[in-house]
Amino acid sequence: MDSQPESRILFSRHEIEATVDRLAAELNRDYHGKRPILICVLKGSFMFMADLVRRLDFPLEIEFVRLTSYGGGKESSGRIKVVHSLQAPIKGRDLLVIEDIIDTGLTISFLLGYLRRKKPSSLGLCALTDKPSRRRVPVNIDYLGFTVPDRFLVGYGLDWGERYRNLPDICVLEEGG
Ligand code: IMP
Ligand code: MG
Repeated sequence: MDSQPESRILFSRHEIEATVDRLAAELNRDYHGKRPILICVLKGSFMFMADLVRRLDFPLEIEFVRLTSYGGGKESSGRIKVVHSLQAPIKGRDLLVIEDIIDTGLTISFLLGYLRRKKPSSLGLCALTDKPSRRRVPVNIDYLGFTVPDRFLVGYGLDWGERYRNLPDICVLEEGG
């Protein structure tokens, strides 16, 4: 067995639930009467997406994109590519991107640029967490869950080397982990 790095809870499952409720209420207000395509950025956003969509009361479609930027470590490589792209035509559609965390902003800026070139009628961003202290390119977040400190987070979809995605709380991976 490899040793288990320590993690401590930053946002509990109950705080996450209350925040997802709040975000869903904002989206239900703003997307009433529309039929957007929600774009889940794999892998980290899968749990947030699943919890969010079941609270939404407007008609919607779901797509998944997969980007790579990180490798197995804790730092963004800045080299991003689309590994799995959209299946549906998006020209003239309302798009809402669902992200787990905005860190340097490089990943989401790349994706938003990629989507904008396909001429959607609107392009929104909903992010569960934002780590503004590490931003390298400006990002406008339309719907934000939590602002987080400059610490490496795991759980609720977020991983460290593919581990910890299944933790129900958002946790800080302690130094040495
Ligand atoms: P960015 O390109 O630096 O904004 O990185 C965005 C991506 O890096 C996120 O979608 C995550 O997959 C990953 N990431 C950034 N910070 C963390 C963290 O604290 N924990 C886990 N993954 C992170
Ligand atoms: Mg991600």
